[in-house]
Amino acid sequence: MKNIVLTGFMGTGKTEVGRELSNMLGWELIDVDEEIVKSKKMSINDLFSQLGEPVFRDIETDMIRAVAAHKKSIISTGGGAVLRQENIDVLRESGIIVCLTASPETILKRTGSNDERPLLKAENQLEKIKELLDFRKSFYKKADIVIDTEPKSPRLIAEEIIERVKWQS
Ligand code: S3P
Repeated sequence: MKNIVLTGFMGTGKTEVGRELSNMLGWELIDVDEEIVKSKKMSINDLFSQLGEPVFRDIETDMIRAVAAHKKSIISTGGGAVLRQENIDVLRESGIIVCLTASPETILKRTGSNDERPLLKAENQLEKIKELLDFRKSFYKKADIVIDTEPKSPRLIAEEIIERVKWQS
């Protein structure tokens, strides 16, 4: 089986579903943001505020390239990773791309209390989420498999992913 690559907007459950997949398959879970934080010794907030988003995106692309070389892995990407076609090409070479989706309201509930997402620092967070989702929807659609996380637990979503990935590997 090829790697499983999780994409999707912030708060769609990539980390939780990634953990389930990792436990179920006994594969390593690689979180691209966590790898960036470890390697740069800076938080995502500091990377955005001190270096700016374009530099963060370059670092993200380099990290995606590095982790894509791993085998038998679940690769969980940041919500903006799909904005660069180059990232999608590298990730598709490495694995099956699964995009998790949720409604703006659910995303707000899941991300609201967390201030570690620089792009969601806005007066009206729901509007900001809707605006970003609208801009990004065509990018998220490029995934091989799209799964609505709304009605399901991370465990059920992970089971569905494994079932569907089997047929595409
Ligand atoms: C981002 C999503 C974040 C992180 C950064 C930018 C985005 O990751 O990479 O704050 O552009 O959507 P999560 O999706 O894991 O929150």
